[in-house]
Amino acid sequence: MSIPQHVRIVEVGPRDGLQNEPDIVPTRIKLELIHRLADAGLPTVEASAFVSSRWVPQMADSSAVLRGIHRREGVTYPVLTPNMKGFEAAVAAGADEVAVFGAASETFSRKNINCSIDESLERFRPVVEAARERGIRVRGYVSCVLGCPYEGAIDPSAVAHVARALYTMGCYEISLGDTIGVGTPLKAQRMVDAVAEQVPVAHIAAHFHDTYAQALANLFAVMQLGVATVDSSVAGLGGCPYAKGASGNVATEDVVYMLNGMDIETGVNLDALAATGQWISAQLNRAPASRVAQALAAQATQV
Ligand code: HMG
Ligand code: MG
Repeated sequence: MSIPQHVRIVEVGPRDGLQNEPDIVPTRIKLELIHRLADAGLPTVEASAFVSSRWVPQMADSSAVLRGIHRREGVTYPVLTPNMKGFEAAVAAGADEVAVFGAASETFSRKNINCSIDESLERFRPVVEAARERGIRVRGYVSCVLGCPYEGAIDPSAVAHVARALYTMGCYEISLGDTIGVGTPLKAQRMVDAVAEQVPVAHIAAHFHDTYAQALANLFAVMQLGVATVDSSVAGLGGCPYAKGASGNVATEDVVYMLNGMDIETGVNLDALAATGQWISAQLNRAPASRVAQALAAQATQV
């Protein structure tokens, strides 16, 4: 069994984690979250989304968030840009990396970004082109890689098709989203196998939501195929506004604990991360969804 020695964690809490929060989180709290995550050693902190505030009100302050970040050397702060309007606003606010986001399901594509899969690829093309001219890297997401809330099972070949289109267009990395967390390990492996025929595995990331508590098992399964980039959200915050019932991403604390236990380097300080998870959860008036965070907190009160 081959397993990566080093895993790069892409922290998506400030974007994926907060986008579904019904009450608007103040910009200063978002900024403190981003700063704390970077200080905890996360090399990539997805900061916000330049999307329509009518569609996702929580991301309406994306420009203020991006402009307000005190950038830490070596850390990147990508933002979502579904079209040229979003891209131009992101560049004006100082974006150093952007992400386009498509789907392997037609219905989800329409519900999420109001266009078909083919139309979405045509919208992304000028974004990727303009980003290349400015030397800005573009990440490409594919949603519904292991199931769709509207269409059910999704064929791995449909995922591979969209992943290939994004990669050949110029996205440096393809992040495979189990948007509603329905996947199980062997299905996750089959899906990654299909994608890896089109996109080198070093350019594939796993973005698994934890709705059915399968995300860590699925991550371990795809790491055995060489996947070495993992998206996760501090405290397990999150959900997609266009995927009813979808819960948060796999918790970053849970991922780091698992990888630490396997001597796989991430560069993340688990204590600082867990403290950040407790802090943001307190701001949102709840306990962290992360089981590791809960266990660490219980242990701390015992001593
Ligand atoms: P649309 O309505 O089709 O866009 O929305 P349009 O071009 O027809 O424009 C309509 C209005 O929106 C216009 O305003 C535009 O200016 C405005 P009006 O003239 O009516 O006042 N508009 C914008 N405003 C701000 N920023 C923009 C923008 N573009 C147009 N970039 C659009 C298309 C994509 C904008 C819309 O559908 C949208 O914002 N969707 C939100 C999608 C979203 O954020 N989803 C959640 C993130 S994806 C996710 O969570 C999955 C992921 O985590 C992976 C996984 O887990 O699977 C990534
Ligand atoms: Mg997501």
